[in-house]
Amino acid sequence: KKQWQGVVEEYRSLLNIAETTPAVTLGEGGTPLIHAEKLSELTGANVWVKYEGLNPTASFKDRGMTMAITKAVAQGAKAVICASTGNTSASAAAYATKAGLTCAVLVPTGKIAPGKMSQAIAHGATLLEVDGNFDDCLTLCRKLSESYPVHLVNSVNPDRIEGQKTASFEVVDVLGDAPDIHVLPVGNAGNITAYWKGYRQYQEIGAATRLPQMWGFQAAGSAPIVLGHPVDEPDTIATAIRIGNPASWQQAVEARDSSGGVIDSVTDDEILRAHKILSREEGIFVEPGSASSVAGLLKMSEAGKVPAGATIAVTVTGHGLKDPSWALHTADGSEIEPKRVSVDAVSAARALGLEDR
Ligand code: F0G
Repeated sequence: KKQWQGVVEEYRSLLNIAETTPAVTLGEGGTPLIHAEKLSELTGANVWVKYEGLNPTASFKDRGMTMAITKAVAQGAKAVICASTGNTSASAAAYATKAGLTCAVLVPTGKIAPGKMSQAIAHGATLLEVDGNFDDCLTLCRKLSESYPVHLVNSVNPDRIEGQKTASFEVVDVLGDAPDIHVLPVGNAGNITAYWKGYRQYQEIGAATRLPQMWGFQAAGSAPIVLGHPVDEPDTIATAIRIGNPASWQQAVEARDSSGGVIDSVTDDEILRAHKILSREEGIFVEPGSASSVAGLLKMSEAGKVPAGATIAVTVTGHGLKDPSWALHTADGSEIEPKRVSVDAVSAARALGLEDR
């Protein structure tokens, strides 16, 4: 059986790329769409989770990065640069390595999760910690790419959006048509832009008969689109989406309005509750930023805004191992300690709460 070829080869004729351009790929995409029994029960809908943590660098960024790095190589770039809350830097570092390019990443000091930091460093990127937030990092990267020979691979690069739209194709390929609603986390707003582009394209070519409503959720402390103005000091435990001035703001608003959808916010507590439901009830481990989509779906459900029986696809964007510390603490913040036993079946059985026999 032929293995999955990565999103550029799998969908080349639907992407803005020449037939002959060789793809730089790590086999990204083809992620599972998992039927979520507990979320379906809680919402009265038919809920499917698109588990993007199963990409090569453990986030959805790889779909866009295979395209961005493929095109960078085709254009003769030798070095790439990006700003990141962590996942973009991990992905850029891996794909640049695969292509033999050098990679520089700018991240907000102290605000990226340890898994993501170690990925960028492991793949040999030059990492700069900037005394500012993500928005400051992106402003710097844009300036650098205008004045120096470094190719920008943030989602303001249209190749990134082009690659990321393949996730919508995959959802339709599995469900047979577009869902009624698609739910996403929103940070810099590239991904909601990309999904909407993908759904529209699939409808245009007749691969889907309809379009979903696009529902996006920002973290309450970093919710510029919901508030209607940039947030100078964005704050949330969901560091992936700690962004105060999203680059694709207008496109996200367009996706919301032309799909009849919503962009709303969820609190950190709601995010952690959704994170726990995914881990404990669905067997799906995600990083907190990814759980904002599920938190939003549950918030809408509790407000009576989820139509009964609707088919809903929910993207969870990054793997739980990126930022695992959240699983090791209780809701009040105390550490969860494993029980310790000697090499003895009776004490192990007691520690497990098994009855004496
Ligand atoms: N979820 C995760 C896990 C992310 O890393 C990001 C963005 C988002 C959601 C939001 O997606 O920006 O397209 O709206 N992370 C970027 C980064 C900003 O630098 O890794 P978006």
